Amino acid sequence: MTARPVSPETPPVFDLRSLRGSALDEFGRHFESEGYCLLSGLQDAVTDLYRPVLMRNTGLSRAELETLLEPDAKDLVLPVELRQKLSRVVTPDDLADSLVANLRPMLARLLGPMVHLSRDFHTQFKCGATGRVGYGGYDSKQGFMEVHGAYQLHQDFTGASIPTSPAAVILWTGLNECPDWPVRIYPRSHRLGLLCRKFVSVDHAGLSQFGEPMEIQARPGTGVIFNSLLLHGTGTAGPGRRVSCDIRFFPSCPYLQSPIRSLVESPGAFIEERMASETGETLRAPLLENLAVAGQLGDNVAAAPYSILNWANYLNDVCNGDPDRASLHISRFTNSEAGLDSAETYIEQFHGRPMQPATVARIRNLIGSPKAVAVGTT
Ligand SMILES: [Fe+2]
Repeated sequence: MTARPVSPETPPVFDLRSLRGSALDEFGRHFESEGYCLLSGLQDAVTDLYRPVLMRNTGLSRAELETLLEPDAKDLVLPVELRQKLSRVVTPDDLADSLVANLRPMLARLLGPMVHLSRDFHTQFKCGATGRVGYGGYDSKQGFMEVHGAYQLHQDFTGASIPTSPAAVILWTGLNECPDWPVRIYPRSHRLGLLCRKFVSVDHAGLSQFGEPMEIQARPGTGVIFNSLLLHGTGTAGPGRRVSCDIRFFPSCPYLQSPIRSLVESPGAFIEERMASETGETLRAPLLENLAVAGQLGDNVAAAPYSILNWANYLNDVCNGDPDRASLHISRFTNSEAGLDSAETYIEQFHGRPMQPATVARIRNLIGSPKAVAVGTT
């Protein structure tokens, strides 16, 4: 793992293979405080799982794929058909099952007892062939050049087209070794609430208020997992081609249609146990969101302005209280001082979006409250 922290302290690197007991506690504390954790020991558990999926999806042989992974390739721009196939790779069930099995303790600590995986994952072949990309997703009109484009800064939660959960996490892993086009993150920015709906230029004058960024270079077997409120994008340019995969994991989320996978045997008991010991807001947030959707949260929780806990209160009012009042929690979640977009922007983006009745029923069933009644699910 090569990281270039601007701060004097070198961040810890957590080895996935020993992430249990006190190491998992330390991992959780670092994630809570900084909004990310650097990881090693991902080769067998994550990195190697992507290759057969990419080969299947693109029709490339192993040797052809290896050629694409060379950081100093002459032809940096891939053919458009290949860019299209790589831009969004459907997450096959066998990959999802293996990732959940291999990452189970870490995911349960970060997301609570239930998880959705993103339906697709992104493979990025960053190089200098195109300019900065200032929007989410992929656009056929752009010829899927996003596969190569360096991203402007954004938060995944606010950059998405539908509400998900601010407690979601992104796992970014290097597929080749390349010092160029690292991931740039702003540690601790996950505590600042909703900062930007639109992508922000990496050169934006207001960025100093978010502290010093940190850059994480691609190296197989290593990666970074970060909270979906963390401000991030692509870092320093260079001549090489950096290859990485990123996939998103969500706590149980009423807006998603994708299947929920249970990480533990008894989700209700797991939430109770974790709530009794966890004090950090970022790690309590998904548990409180679970309870809100299950109709078991009761009164709204204390949530300071910008706090991630405002989202649990939003869900609680939508599901169990007064949906008309719920948007107040989005306003409270909006960072009106350092942020670049208004509360109205996020209310328009998130409020009144349909929940998925089957997903809501499944969450309640897993937590053990199938009789809870909710509104706002249409
Ligand atoms: Fe992102």
